[in-house]
Amino acid sequence: MYIRDDYPAIIDAKRRDLLRFLAAAQATAVELQQDLESDPSFRNQVVEASRKVTQTLQTPVDRAWELFFHSAAPTALLVSINAGWLSLINDTNASNGYTNQEITIDQIARSNSSDVDLVQRLMRVLTSAGLIRETQPHQYAPTPVSKLFDNPGWADGLRHSVRDFSMTMTSVPEYLAEHKYQTPTQDDGIYQHVHGIPFFERLKREEEVRRQFANFMDAMRTGEKPWYEMYPVAERLQVSSVSDVLLVDIGGSKGHDLLAFSQFRKKLGLQGKLVLQDRPAVLSQVPLSSHDIEIQAHDFFEAQPVIGAKAYFLKHILHDWMDRDCVSILGRVRDAMEVGYSRLLISERMVPGRECSPRIAAFDVLMMVVVGGRERTTSEWKGLIAAVEGLEIEKIWTFGNDNDSVIEAVRNF
Ligand SMILES: C[S@@+](CC[C@H](N)C(=O)[O-])C[C@H]1O[C@@H](n2cnc3c(N)ncnc32)[C@H](O)[C@@H]1O
Repeated sequence: MYIRDDYPAIIDAKRRDLLRFLAAAQATAVELQQDLESDPSFRNQVVEASRKVTQTLQTPVDRAWELFFHSAAPTALLVSINAGWLSLINDTNASNGYTNQEITIDQIARSNSSDVDLVQRLMRVLTSAGLIRETQPHQYAPTPVSKLFDNPGWADGLRHSVRDFSMTMTSVPEYLAEHKYQTPTQDDGIYQHVHGIPFFERLKREEEVRRQFANFMDAMRTGEKPWYEMYPVAERLQVSSVSDVLLVDIGGSKGHDLLAFSQFRKKLGLQGKLVLQDRPAVLSQVPLSSHDIEIQAHDFFEAQPVIGAKAYFLKHILHDWMDRDCVSILGRVRDAMEVGYSRLLISERMVPGRECSPRIAAFDVLMMVVVGGRERTTSEWKGLIAAVEGLEIEKIWTFGNDNDSVIEAVRNF
């Protein structure tokens, strides 16, 4: 075989180039970090490109180990949150008597008489995953990610994720084999199979699970571009009197989205009533300050009590349900809509036809596993709306991080 004399030198130069390019990319990323916050789709494009570089460089064995061990970090993080260690590391006001730089493994362990060796092993997982920083041996400082979990909604999101996603996922291979690899239905779902109760029934019965889920739904809005900043609210959602209903948030949880919308519409000078609907147990968590919002217990499988509102809003509702149930939920909304006046606004992530991001692909499978639902592509949404007689899509607005979209539909007869 012929080997060029200069082959090693060329390779050597290319290796140096690779490191130099990556260092330059890292420096530019730091420089643009803040600027890119306002352009999530470009930021996603760059993250995706850097992920491809990492995947190209990793060996198949590296990837396999990554897959095997992916649960160590969320587990270590949840233990650290529950034990109060993470808030000790995150605490920047030194109210605990330490500054961040002074937090050592011994001080963390002493805070609740934990075993030092156990703490150290879990901290190692967190530092290696980049969730906290090890400033000196056995001495820790926070990162922006560890700080995010100071927000109780994200801590509750992690609890929900470990209990409801990860625990349920482990039974998927066995369940699907038993069910001859058919898409699970809501009537005999995987969650039910593992936990003995469908997820939304559990929410009804267990206050702590309900509280954590609603907190997480609220926290999920962090970093998300609100739908009402992308959809032309002022142009399309005018009502002529204060007593008209401007918007009904169906399955709006404890009202986090509607509260934010209520502030936004005030800035636009938009009048009209706002109505928050969910199940009674969920509505009992609504903060008292939501005084310009009417709160109404409503099961969305029953007849919609608010007739002729300007807008009916469903955010992350239909992805929880299979087509059959979506058609019935939408049929109830259609019956209440006024032809030529009301608008139906569905806020969901749109699954792209190809090159789906890992996050949207995972969301879709999680919906299947936890509630028997699904994320949908544009053509699946079109098919679903077409299956509800009298509803017609007017426009689909797509924006933001996860192909967040607003599907706007009207009643045509
Ligand atoms: C995924 S959460 C979305 C909450 C909120 N729209 C948001 O985006 O943050 C689904 C919501 O549907 C509510 N829900 C489930 N079944 C319901 C029913 N039959 N009638 C009314 N609300 C229901 C749940 O209580 C929960 O608040």
